[in-house]
Amino acid sequence: MSSESPPRTVLDLTAMKASGRKIVMLTCYDAIFARLIAPEVDVLLVGDSVNQVVAGHTTTLSATLEQLIYHTRAVRRGAPNSLVLVDLPFLSYQVSVEDAIRNAGRVLQKTGAQGVKLEGGRHVVATVRALVERGIPVMGHLGLTPQSVHALGGHRIQGRETGAPERMRNDARELEDAGAFGLVLELVPAGLARRISETLRIPTIGIGAGAGCDGQVLVLHDMLGLNETFSPRFLKRFASLAGTVRDAARGYAKEVRAGTYPDDQHSFE
Ligand code: KIV
Repeated sequence: MSSESPPRTVLDLTAMKASGRKIVMLTCYDAIFARLIAPEVDVLLVGDSVNQVVAGHTTTLSATLEQLIYHTRAVRRGAPNSLVLVDLPFLSYQVSVEDAIRNAGRVLQKTGAQGVKLEGGRHVVATVRALVERGIPVMGHLGLTPQSVHALGGHRIQGRETGAPERMRNDARELEDAGAFGLVLELVPAGLARRISETLRIPTIGIGAGAGCDGQVLVLHDMLGLNETFSPRFLKRFASLAGTVRDAARGYAKEVRAGTYPDDQHSFE
């Protein structure tokens, strides 16, 4: 949440777009980080990137509903008043609309999150409409959709091939018409992302999609500089915590081995 006027519902995001205020979103997976960052940002996203960042997998494909529920509950405990969104993991919404309703509803019931995010264009429009009609707020996700990473040939920029910009613009419009309250645009050329943002009433949140989006999202551990092996062009590190963590562990190990920690000050009589 920003310190000015904290948005607490998904509708506030549309109002922010209308008034020209940029939306700040970060991923978050646990209570301690939620407590630290919630006062500074507008939205916390419990992304299925948790499967990579926290669980150490190479893709998001094996993320489960239980895993997302577990982490979202932790985030909610750390940030009880924030706008919290949660990713629906792979296969929790693609098989049938009934499945999607049951799973999305369960996530909201169990976690206290206010909305779900799911990936894809035209093929998920009916699902988005069904969820929205049942009172479940949905954010879409176009461009690089990590749950389709194998079909897309890797984590690469999208929307450059012939016909792709037009398809993405149509997908965006259809998702808005189906009732999505917002749209993540991931790894999309800046000009295309700007044009999509200008034609929609709902806000776009970019990651690797340039400054023309209505807001931005980054993966928390990446922007904190905790993940040294991930350096895509779009990523700006706002801290270098990997070195800080290593130095702290080294200092601790040194003192334990030397017998200087714990000293009297850190011991009980
Ligand atoms: O899972 C995730 O972290 C995401 C963001 C990158 C938008 O979907």
